[in-house]
Amino acid sequence: MDRTIPLTRYEDKGHSVNRTLQDARNFSFPKDSLDAIVIKMGLHEVSKEEQVRILANSLDSLKPAGELFIWECMGQTPKINEYFKRIIRKKDELAGYTSMVENRYFCNEEELIDIAEEAGGERVEVIYQDSSFDWNTLNLCQADFGVDVDKLKEYNEYIRSILPINVSQAIKLEDFGDFIIMHFAKKILRVRK
Ligand SMILES: C[S@@+](CC[C@H](N)C(=O)[O-])C[C@H]1O[C@@H](n2cnc3c(N)ncnc32)[C@H](O)[C@@H]1O
Repeated sequence: MDRTIPLTRYEDKGHSVNRTLQDARNFSFPKDSLDAIVIKMGLHEVSKEEQVRILANSLDSLKPAGELFIWECMGQTPKINEYFKRIIRKKDELAGYTSMVENRYFCNEEELIDIAEEAGGERVEVIYQDSSFDWNTLNLCQADFGVDVDKLKEYNEYIRSILPINVSQAIKLEDFGDFIIMHFAKKILRVRK
């Protein structure tokens, strides 16, 4: 919470800014109270079943004409997403992030649409997508592996060993020897109730 960015530019315009720190799995705002909800890069932190619950609670909190926006990272296609999931999972394992290994689930686009509909959402649309979710193993080494170069080497080897050439091409993989850069998808979905 202390690391959240200041939102003074909104406050300066007379908007009120409230911060709430809760586990999204067990929390919802009052029914029909919000015009818009944005879940940015958060849904994947919990299991698929819990994602449905979070989306259902979010839709319940929206006003009838409200909109729910889901911003997620994933593989560009369901097949690429299978590799994306393995690459993230291996990073979390090497970093020792046990709860992330257990909890996280990265939906592909179709799965995200399915769970949004299962949660009661309607007219689910992908309103934005690009391939700007960059995965640079050197940055991860610094941020997650405690600058442990052996872990970075193991991670690079793992990535090289699992990716078929067509997937490497699709994600524009660049192998610099000491580190690897890949480009996965960023997608934003709009859901109405
Ligand atoms: C990948 S970060 C994204 C942070 C920010 N939204 C952004 O886009 O930069 C995921 C965030 O989800 C939070 N998170 C994980 N599990 C959560 C849960 N069950 N309820 C609420 N937040 C959770 C984490 O603490 C982390 O801040």
